[in-house]
Amino acid sequence: MLNDTETVLIERDAAHLIHPLHSPAAHAGGKVWVGGEGEFLIDANGGRFIDGLSGLWNNTAGNGRAELAEAAYKQMKEMAYASGYTGSSNPRAIELAERLAGICYPSINHFYFTSGGGESTDSNIKLARHYWKLMGKPNKTKVISRIWGYHGTTLAAMCCTGIEAYWPMFEPRIPGFSHIPTPYPYRYEAPEGAASQGIAAADELEKAILAEGPDTVAMFIAEPVQGAGGVIVPQDDYFPRIREICTEYDVLFVSDEVITGFGRTGRMFGLEHWGVEPDLIQFAKAITSGYFPLGGIGMNDAIADVILGSGQAWMHAYTYSAHPTGCAVALAMLDIVEGEDFPGQAARKGARLLNGLRDALGDHPNVGEVRGLGLMCGIEYVEDRATKAPFDPAQKVGPRIHAEGVTRGLFSRTRGDVYQIAPPIVTSEANIDRCVEIIAEATKAVLG
Ligand SMILES: Cc1ncc(COP(=O)(O)O)c(C=O)c1O
Repeated sequence: MLNDTETVLIERDAAHLIHPLHSPAAHAGGKVWVGGEGEFLIDANGGRFIDGLSGLWNNTAGNGRAELAEAAYKQMKEMAYASGYTGSSNPRAIELAERLAGICYPSINHFYFTSGGGESTDSNIKLARHYWKLMGKPNKTKVISRIWGYHGTTLAAMCCTGIEAYWPMFEPRIPGFSHIPTPYPYRYEAPEGAASQGIAAADELEKAILAEGPDTVAMFIAEPVQGAGGVIVPQDDYFPRIREICTEYDVLFVSDEVITGFGRTGRMFGLEHWGVEPDLIQFAKAITSGYFPLGGIGMNDAIADVILGSGQAWMHAYTYSAHPTGCAVALAMLDIVEGEDFPGQAARKGARLLNGLRDALGDHPNVGEVRGLGLMCGIEYVEDRATKAPFDPAQKVGPRIHAEGVTRGLFSRTRGDVYQIAPPIVTSEANIDRCVEIIAEATKAVLG
């Protein structure tokens, strides 16, 4: 229940503030956050909640990290801002690019910085198109992505995003963007005789490239683990086959690591699980643990050689590219990620979370699947476990389970009837176990 403090703030909020995914009805019972401590968020009434999604998957280091605040303060005092446009640079940006070259996929050594994920998607689309023009293949402009993929909501990023609810208000979409099915181990039905489910799902890309015409396709973009789409972890043979297909048809493979980058899945970057390297990468969120908006893209050496060797200026730019404060915070954050072994912590705590959820919920008649990789898990609720039939969305099973969790001190997010849980990597083991208890109690409260 909201008490006066939170009620009054929400009323003031409703009077003038427009939110992402704004919905007055959904916002009426919303939360107003005023503080944070480690893995906890504190609301305007003083209530403490485990931050079950690390903010929006970004705050892996948790609240109150003095190192990050001090890095920002020091940089802001030294110099507020200087252009990052060509002919102008700053030491923090130079150091960050050097540092990323050391930890990213070995072939990726050149970086361009943005303010977040969606700008990074746009930057990669523009880079891919420019690259193919330089390669003498100007018709390679199309972009293929996946159903349930999430790549942001700028117009071009929205066209990559494969969650259909994001489209109708803003159509027509940009021509040349299409979607293939996701590998979705729980639901993807491989055709008869397929070598495996993962290979069949990857071969959807080959089919799409052939249907579009290989000479027209610039890039394929995918998250190593689909996050906002419902924590969909691919089969082990999926990405190796995707890599083969992209190489065979000269299609740039873009790994969207906006969620999976910097340790979340138990590796520094997501595709490391399958020994695969992309041509382009994009990142944001955890690179600053959400303390400052910063994202970026990285390109492999072959692409960098072509772009840098072309003699042309790259006519793409953001005022806040290579923002000195963002880069300073990112450098301090990389000290934390490496110094505190975030990939290792995410692997251990993620296994604890996944096993805990499977023990607590694995036999529940309405739990279709409990899945995850590293410290990101999803619980998919279904009406009928045998047929995998979903609940009628009007029943709002996922949102009701979420609401029950909130009353017990866990705040996260759902995608329909998939409950998503990805707390900060610093979360204590006791609070990982508490997440499991709360989700089990909330499930029982709604579904018996
Ligand atoms: C994989 C992925 N890509 C891109 C984005 C878009 O990032 P932003 O909201 O910073 O534009 C997100 C945001 O959740 C994301 O999860």
